[in-house]
Amino acid sequence: MPPRTHKNKLRKKKKIKLKRKKQKIQKQKQKIQQQKLQKIQKIIKGKNMSGNKIENYEKLFTSKDDWYAKSKQFWKESEPTVNGMLGGYEEISEEDTQHSIQFLSQFLDRFSQSKTKYALDCGSGIGRVTKNVFLPSFDAVDLVDSENSFLEVAKQNLDPKKVLNFYCSPLEKFTPDPNKYDLIWVQWVAIYFADDDFVIFLKNCKQALKENGIIIIKDNSSKNNGFVLDESDNSIIRSIPHYKSIFKEANLEILKEETILFTGASLYPVTTFALK
Ligand SMILES: C[S@@+](CC[C@H](N)C(=O)[O-])C[C@H]1O[C@@H](n2cnc3c(N)ncnc32)[C@H](O)[C@@H]1O
Repeated sequence: MPPRTHKNKLRKKKKIKLKRKKQKIQKQKQKIQQQKLQKIQKIIKGKNMSGNKIENYEKLFTSKDDWYAKSKQFWKESEPTVNGMLGGYEEISEEDTQHSIQFLSQFLDRFSQSKTKYALDCGSGIGRVTKNVFLPSFDAVDLVDSENSFLEVAKQNLDPKKVLNFYCSPLEKFTPDPNKYDLIWVQWVAIYFADDDFVIFLKNCKQALKENGIIIIKDNSSKNNGFVLDESDNSIIRSIPHYKSIFKEANLEILKEETILFTGASLYPVTTFALK
């Protein structure tokens, strides 16, 4: 028996050593990722809406509470209608819907094995996208938004048999349940994230996907390599390389990318990314 006990002790020691080594590697990886992100942020240059250069991008997010307070206030004062959701450009809703349906149709086969096709609508507002895009082809949908009055309107207008949960939470503090969703859709809300929160959010989304699940980010993009900061609601219109650097940090692969311009409205281009 004694030799066995000795062996057990050795095994235990080895296990602890291995665990510590793994933890050390994990910490090193996290540190490298953080450094990479900081480096990228230093390279990223941009302007505000008046064309003035923003020199210290990282400083925008020094106080997260201050950063997010503006967008919160902006949406608190917005009307719970399609026009309100689209910042006064109600007329683009139909074109946007048609584009989303067409973009999503390329991925629907991936979900064919799912018993319950489940989507999560992030920054859902009153559920415009859920109503027009998800409900025709999904069995279940959850909504998450930081503005409760929008979710109340959504509750009244959406099919309660299919729309199951209404989470009132800022996305930067929201962690979706693991292994739950075939589709996580993030439309016209990524502009409000600080970069590091965006990375964490995407990582959380990745673990919330089912095996063949995907994340869709659909949002404004800038025409050149710089970002545009709108100080009225603290939103950042990122360049495509900027988005890509964030996706890379979150260990996400881009399956498809498409940029569109809405007809008749002088708006920023809108880029849609499918990620896994
Ligand atoms: C431009 S609307 C888009 C609504 C919807 N995605 C659509 O396309 O119709 C932006 C939505 O994001 C929500 N929002 C803004 N910042 C948020 C945050 N940090 N967390 C969660 N929701 C947020 C607003 O309340 C609003 O409903």
